[in-house]
Amino acid sequence: MERERILVVDDDQSILEILRIRLESEGYEVNVVSNRDEALNLARECMFDLALVDLKLAEGDKDGIYLMQELHQINAETPIIILTAYGTINSAVDAMKRGAYSYLTKPFDHHDLFLQIKNGLEKSSLAREVKRLKALVDKKYGINHIIGKSRKMLEVLDKTHRAAETDSNVYIYGESGTGKELIAKSLHLLSPRKDRPFVAINCASIPEGLLESELFGYEKGAFTGATGRKKGLFSQAHTGTLFLDEISETPASMQVRLLRVLEERQFQPLGSEKVVSVDVRIVAASNKNIGKEMEKGSFREDLYYRLHVIPISLPPLRERKEDIPLLADHFMDKFSREKGKDSKGLSSGAIQKLLSYDWPGNVRELENTIEYAVAMSDGGLIEQDLILQARKTENGEFKSLKEARDDFEKDYISRALTLTGGNVSKAAGLVKKYRADFYDLLKKHNLKPSEFKNLR
Ligand SMILES: Nc1ncnc2c1ncn2[C@@H]1O[C@H](COP(=O)(O)OP(=O)(O)OP(=O)(O)O)[C@@H](O)[C@H]1O
Ligand SMILES: [Mg+2]
Repeated sequence: MERERILVVDDDQSILEILRIRLESEGYEVNVVSNRDEALNLARECMFDLALVDLKLAEGDKDGIYLMQELHQINAETPIIILTAYGTINSAVDAMKRGAYSYLTKPFDHHDLFLQIKNGLEKSSLAREVKRLKALVDKKYGINHIIGKSRKMLEVLDKTHRAAETDSNVYIYGESGTGKELIAKSLHLLSPRKDRPFVAINCASIPEGLLESELFGYEKGAFTGATGRKKGLFSQAHTGTLFLDEISETPASMQVRLLRVLEERQFQPLGSEKVVSVDVRIVAASNKNIGKEMEKGSFREDLYYRLHVIPISLPPLRERKEDIPLLADHFMDKFSREKGKDSKGLSSGAIQKLLSYDWPGNVRELENTIEYAVAMSDGGLIEQDLILQARKTENGEFKSLKEARDDFEKDYISRALTLTGGNVSKAAGLVKKYRADFYDLLKKHNLKPSEFKNLR
């Protein structure tokens, strides 16, 4: 393996010498320089994996923060650790804000020095790998938002890519949180239908009585309360893709209707004489084993075979652990940007913790864990205690951000229902959600509108 290369810039020869000896004895390749010009020349000539830069440089060389920014112009990815003398902590904090990876106060603590270097190198190699991987997947498949290097994930990407070129129905199976919706959307974006609509429906969240009108639409006066015409999701998805999520939860009566539409590619909206023809590509997903549902008799065999033309099976995260550090780094970047935090990556201890956990909630759980850690960190490196805290919440010791948010959501939706006396349309209007989405929320929190009728 190639040795990692570290640049050290300090105007004090004795410090340079000490650092060179210590770092070389740890197996790093080291270049030491005493001024700005030499540092810049070297950085232009070769790639450094990390740099240590003294805050105070010789007269006429500006300061270490300025040099750090110049080095970042040459290579933005290099983590830079600022060396400071005791009493200049404020400038060191300023350096962090301007992009330093971390800082060390002289005289250094041996252990601290090596730990910071190790973490910095890990972050830079991880960041480089994520970048390289995204570029690779982008070049090969034309998608750059799916992370994964495991053989199993690469097979999924390959299959998705191939399926996208056809117009056949696709069935995506995977445990909860494995990325089924992400794959369904990618499939659409890779297909010739990419500029046409992608319409998703969660079959489990719509009450049985409403599923038909949601899917096929209705004419004015089709039933009491149908005061206008409504276009169903099948029509909305015309020439595009219709994503039927949680297909295993479709009631039996609806399964018959679906089968007929898939066979004939046409249907009649409720209360309409006219037959409507549609051209849609169907992608269905489920976290249940539909084969078993079929044996139990709760899923129609004929519909199953209609949908199951190209099956794509998403592996659980515990079966592709090599993807965990990459996904973690990806989410870390995402949430740092979103929350305006200056996160410096995960410590090796934190990564170990992530690797040793089984992730029953898969990628979604990992995403929540990282969001929590970023939200709770005060910038800088994320240590394992934050990961532990996020995990602990599962045992009820402290709520995760997601749980806290879910609790708030349930309370908020309940208040809207109370205010409107359990009128779903009005409550949905109040919280500015589409009715279908609002039904999702009701189902998610197990709320029954009828129970809110006389509360006010
Ligand atoms: N390979 C991946 N790369 C990047 N992000 C991912 C990947 N897989 C999943 N995600 C993210 O994880 C989250 C969960 O994914 P998604 O909603 O697609 O899962 P799902 O299988 O549909 O989950 P559920 O069964 O709960 O509906 C999303 O935010 C998604 O963007
Ligand atoms: Mg989903």
